[in-house]
Amino acid sequence: MKILGISGSPRKAATEYVVKEALNEIQKKYPDIETEYMSLRGKKLAPCTHCDYCKRKKDWCIIKDDGNALIKQMIEADAFVIGTPVYVMEPTPQMMALFSRMRPIHHVFPEALRNKLGVSLAVGGARNGGQELAVNALNNMMLTRGINVISNEVFGYHGGKIWSQDNGGKGAGDDTVGMKTVTDLVLKLAENALIYEAGKIALAQSNDCR
Ligand SMILES: Cc1cc2nc3c(=O)[nH]c(=O)nc-3n(C[C@H](O)[C@H](O)[C@H](O)COP(=O)(O)O)c2cc1C
Repeated sequence: MKILGISGSPRKAATEYVVKEALNEIQKKYPDIETEYMSLRGKKLAPCTHCDYCKRKKDWCIIKDDGNALIKQMIEADAFVIGTPVYVMEPTPQMMALFSRMRPIHHVFPEALRNKLGVSLAVGGARNGGQELAVNALNNMMLTRGINVISNEVFGYHGGKIWSQDNGGKGAGDDTVGMKTVTDLVLKLAENALIYEAGKIALAQSNDCR
């Protein structure tokens, strides 16, 4: 069981802090779950150009950058904590590029991300700077790729929303209300991932008995 935390920030700052904190919380409560951190910072990652190479050749993307490797790293995980800074009330272009590059998942490897689980976190410099819109976009991007989105109860709803006050990890950490939405959400993700894992084993056993 592996949970992969992804930061869509081009910096080592607020989103990195939030995603790493989320992974720490999971580790504290569920030490048997493996966690891994992946950052889009410094990665060469162009958006999809709709050349249809993957569709025609039934192959990975022809663009020679870090995109394919990042997506393959995602395929190795069971669940995702996906965090993005809010840029113009949306996820970052880096995060949008990552998801646009997943067309080979659609056309070539449709099972690759199916039945994995994910949650969304958005970190904005303004208190109401579009975090809700950014988590909506992240949730929708996951849904288009077959990832099942885990929601939270009251105060968390559809994703973690953090106000960094444009002050990096310190600012994000100071937003104790926002960070609570992160903790609640990622612990629910971990719980669901474990239930899912147990369910898969039970299903395989019952299929063996038939
Ligand atoms: C190009 C750009 C656009 C931004 N747009 C928004 C925005 O629409 N809403 C908001 O709350 N913050 C916005 N911000 C501020 C960042 O979301 C905020 O500083 C965030 O904490 C950055 O995350 P990071 O520290 O992980 O890089 C923007 C920042 C940049 C560079």
